[in-house]
Amino acid sequence: MSATPDRKGQLGPADIRARKGGEPVVCLTAYTTPMARLVDAHCDIALVGDSLGMVLHGLPSTIGVSMEMMILHGKAVARGCSRACLVVDMPFGSYEEGPEQAFRNAARMMAETGCQAVKLEGGRHMAETVAFLVARGIPVMGHVGLTPQAVNTLGGYKVQGRDPDEADRIAGDAAALADAGAFAVVLEKLPEALGARITQEIAVPTIGIGAGVDCDGQVLVVDDMLGLFADFRPKFVKRYAELGGDADTAIAAYAAEVRARRFPGPEHAFGAGKPA
Ligand code: KIV
Repeated sequence: MSATPDRKGQLGPADIRARKGGEPVVCLTAYTTPMARLVDAHCDIALVGDSLGMVLHGLPSTIGVSMEMMILHGKAVARGCSRACLVVDMPFGSYEEGPEQAFRNAARMMAETGCQAVKLEGGRHMAETVAFLVARGIPVMGHVGLTPQAVNTLGGYKVQGRDPDEADRIAGDAAALADAGAFAVVLEKLPEALGARITQEIAVPTIGIGAGVDCDGQVLVVDDMLGLFADFRPKFVKRYAELGGDADTAIAAYAAEVRARRFPGPEHAFGAGKPA
């Protein structure tokens, strides 16, 4: 069990829900304690996304992410969060069988990580499960549009809802989740106009990722917006830094200095009799 976090001053799902149509909700992913501290200082939601499977563990998709992985990283992020609302993704296979399975795993997730809410993917077919969890004390964030856990049925990571019937279906999915009690809904990779439409139509905040500026809030994978991956540049990600390039330059300089015996210098060495 994690230590029960001190919740004084920490945003909760009800605070996020109350931001509908108001101040934009700022969300980033975090997977480790040091990154959680940085995110917590500036964001309203710290999301332990199952994107950690790809970002941290080198998996080809989120399909192989387990409850144990999410709990390990959820606990690490909880240690760095004192202000942001902490939301942890339910991994593939941990909630789709039905409300009871979802409750069992979501309750474990909350008890072991100290998170305030869970996020799960899927539209109207998940509404019954969302209502079941919410009625039993588990706040839920929904996720529609591009749902990466369904990559094999969606046939890739393409923009969703470009044709009118599909747009109507996704709008209906978001409405079903909101009606079932979700406190916010992530809209991933939708045409801007559909992001705006759903934001107008549902009563809870929409948190967009590649769904346009009209959503009630925005989320990005923190490693993407920090530019940690040279070869991953999706259109919807603005890179606010180029840390991958900086890290490469720094590691190359270190390697060169070690090979040339220029590191460590005298200032990094302990001389006899000198204090540490
Ligand atoms: O897993 C994740 O990081 C996510 C966000 C990108 C919304 O679900």
